[in-house]
Amino acid sequence: MSSRIVPVPECDLVIFGGTGDLSRRKILPALFDRVIDGQLPDTSRIIGVSRTKMTTGDYRAWTQDALGDHETAKNSSSHFEAFCDQAHYVCLDVETGQGWDALTQLLASHEDRKRIFYLAVGPELFGGICRAIDAQGLITENTRLVMEKPIGRDLASARALNDEVAAAFQEDQIYRIDHYLGKETVQNLMVLRFANMLFEPIWNSAHIDHVQISVAETLGVGTRAGYYDRSGALRDMVQNHLLQLLCLVAMEPSMSMDATAVRDEKLKVLRALRPVTRESASNQIVRGQYLRGASADGPVPGYLDELGSAESNTETFVALKAEIENWRWAGVPFYLRTGKRLATRASEIVVSFKAIPHSIFDGGAGTVSENKLILRLQPDEGVKLMIMIKDPGQGGLRLRRVPLDMTFAESFDVRASDAYERLLMDVVRGNQTLFMRRDEVEAAWRWIDPILQAWDETEERPSSYTAGTWGPTASVALIERDGRTWHEESGV
Ligand code: BG6
Repeated sequence: MSSRIVPVPECDLVIFGGTGDLSRRKILPALFDRVIDGQLPDTSRIIGVSRTKMTTGDYRAWTQDALGDHETAKNSSSHFEAFCDQAHYVCLDVETGQGWDALTQLLASHEDRKRIFYLAVGPELFGGICRAIDAQGLITENTRLVMEKPIGRDLASARALNDEVAAAFQEDQIYRIDHYLGKETVQNLMVLRFANMLFEPIWNSAHIDHVQISVAETLGVGTRAGYYDRSGALRDMVQNHLLQLLCLVAMEPSMSMDATAVRDEKLKVLRALRPVTRESASNQIVRGQYLRGASADGPVPGYLDELGSAESNTETFVALKAEIENWRWAGVPFYLRTGKRLATRASEIVVSFKAIPHSIFDGGAGTVSENKLILRLQPDEGVKLMIMIKDPGQGGLRLRRVPLDMTFAESFDVRASDAYERLLMDVVRGNQTLFMRRDEVEAAWRWIDPILQAWDETEERPSSYTAGTWGPTASVALIERDGRTWHEESGV
């Protein structure tokens, strides 16, 4: 089965931070793939902007180099040079203001195009860039702004940042990226819930025992230690990616896929999260930091070694229990966990259903295990429904739990696309459904802030865990105290 490509209008995409890591690893490869699939017109321009002194020729060479290891680029050499010719470059210093004239001139030749400004730079530059874009008269009615996280480090700073951006752009022009929302399985979660009759009637506290959301990484902080140490796993992963996943599991069916309808429902979930108190922060939230240990490739350093510091209270692991105070979810815990340098790279949402009320089978048949719906985000994206069957064949009646397995790679013959490909095309199309609205971001911070405060006020350090394990033992205790266990069938 092949995917259906609907071309988007041609556009000018201006990337602030055009020579940065995100452009290199994510934005340019994603654009390349959309161009060779015929979705993004090859007349579109990619305009890299940064302080580095270079010409458009240099930037094209840089783009070639950036795409050097990209799988589809290696296999499509004929498109490769044509794509690099779509790249342009403007040397612009946001702090001194030099370079805006060149950008203005370049854009002036295509006034009517969709115009996208992508902020792939540190958030401290967002306000200044937006003010200057506005002052230069570059905001046309077809203009959109893309913002990368972090959007603030708490509620107050998020509000201040959103205010600065809102002074130049309307909310319906702003696309706040959470790349988890562009992942295949995350989108499939909505389809599974809302395009099947099967799940929705039982998607509630009467039938669901609990939900687990795990995002486990094997890598450490590496070269990002400086950023990471000011952030930590709670800000870096939970405030955005994990809470967004929780919203999609817990939201009510929206009236349509319209951006306002979907985001209104997600917002209600964030607002219904039981507020964290100082007491619940210490009972229901575990933070950890990795010590040196081992990965599949051999010994790996601890967090402090990577940071090059003798001390830091920054958490590289968080496990927590969240509760949603509404009719659908009262009494159903949502266990969230994420960490760096864990045993396996695996991200999953596991919905565990309640036990059957009464078994008609005698003990000899074996136990009746609960049903689980497992949505695997990565690697090996797919969905599994764990159900009970009779063990096939002769002999007595024996029960067995087996997966109804729908691993996408095996079921469909399509290349797994990167989240950025989908999200960038949505920006060009003008579809905000998979982007975070201002009130969502702020509601998420409102829930996170008390956790940060509680950690600030305690003398306790994050619990240690050895790199290459599943995090601190307190994370296991957190869930086992409730008579449950982390789902670890596939590693997590
Ligand atoms: C980013 C975080 O948002 O997501 C990183 O800043 C993290 O720390 C990354 O590694 C994980 O994304 P993915 O798509 O690799 O799961």
